[in-house]
Amino acid sequence: MSLASYRALGRSGLVISPLCLGTMTFGSTGPGGWGADEAASRAIFNAYRDAGGNFVDTADIYAGGVSETFVGKFIRETNSRDAIVLATKFGFNGSSSPLTGTAGGTGNPHAGGAGSKNIHRALDASLQRLGTDYIDLYWMHVWDGVTPVEEIVPTLGDLVRAGKIRHYAFSDMPAWVAMKAATIASERRVPGPIAMQVEYSLVARDVEAEHVPAAREGGMGVMAWSPLAGGFLTGKYRRGETAGTGRLSGANPFGDSKFTDRNWAILDTLGEVAAELDCDPAQAALAWVMARPGVASTIVGARTAAQLAGNIAAAGLRLTDEQMTRLTEASTPAAGFTASLASAMIRKMIYGGHDVTGWGE
Ligand SMILES: NC(=O)c1ccc[n+]([C@@H]2O[C@H](COP(=O)([O-])OP(=O)(O)OC[C@H]3O[C@@H](n4cnc5c(N)ncnc54)[C@H](OP(=O)(O)O)[C@@H]3O)[C@@H](O)[C@H]2O)c1
Repeated sequence: MSLASYRALGRSGLVISPLCLGTMTFGSTGPGGWGADEAASRAIFNAYRDAGGNFVDTADIYAGGVSETFVGKFIRETNSRDAIVLATKFGFNGSSSPLTGTAGGTGNPHAGGAGSKNIHRALDASLQRLGTDYIDLYWMHVWDGVTPVEEIVPTLGDLVRAGKIRHYAFSDMPAWVAMKAATIASERRVPGPIAMQVEYSLVARDVEAEHVPAAREGGMGVMAWSPLAGGFLTGKYRRGETAGTGRLSGANPFGDSKFTDRNWAILDTLGEVAAELDCDPAQAALAWVMARPGVASTIVGARTAAQLAGNIAAAGLRLTDEQMTRLTEASTPAAGFTASLASAMIRKMIYGGHDVTGWGE
């Protein structure tokens, strides 16, 4: 597989690379040094394009809009607007946020959320920063918990019909929200969501219980964010030696929540598999995500072009069935209620002891 192994995103005609370029690092050069300045961002963008990648993910909130500005500039510099699938997001509030230290009731509530008023405001601002007149894939960045899905679907569907966005999709939402939107859209014969963007990696597999089955049922491709758990799965952090190593250590908004006994044990197994394949742990971790059911594209992030080059090589890596199984078993999450319903034992209890396989399983 290569970045030119294009596939459709969900039930749509949007043709994308198996690795999408995440640009959350672009312009995020504040405390902690976890981002990339303009020159480094340009080098990352060009390396991705040179490798055949066509799918770029940004958001209005990344670096306060600077990421979008850089992406728009690099697309113009490379005259690549027609070739690139450009994705951006609305939803987080740009006027006030605990992340920027400006919380405290001072922000404009209409500068965030999935209400129609904010979606129109946010889209116009993103189009301006990106220097384009349409977005290929417009993401609801986060479920706001307030706006009725019955308002979100027509707002986004009308933007598709107006040509300002080509498709839309949902990130960071309960599975039922995406499924309800897909159902409303198909019943009303209006444009519906074509993808889900969720945290998914060897150390973050919660989404397998509800989101992945809902995505399959609703015709949505799964896109995995933080497939390296913010750098943890590169193997550069060691038990008891995590300071000053990267984004997860030092002053940053991400914290050290990945440093758990369970995750260190998963990393040990990942290291063994990577050694067998003579590759970096990061590449084996990415290859595992890319091979998981339902995953249409995996969003890689990088602070340098050298990091990205290593990550892109994962597209050409294939784990054996035994290696996939070993990693999957080493990282099996505790089965919650939904996952327990899908167990082989329950299936047998229903089908008289037979191991019946459902559609798409
Ligand atoms: N929808 C959402 O809510 C959401 C949330 C998060 C991300 N995203 C999207 O997903 C993209 C990827 O997320 P992510 O950046 O968290 O992905 P990630 O791949 O889990 O982490 C990327 C970070 O890991 C480190 N790294 C990557 N490759 C490396 C290598 N080969 N060697 C050593 N270190 C390496 C770098 O950080 P350091 O060098 O600083 O350690 C890099 O910035 C984002 O850009 C964004 O587009 C979406």
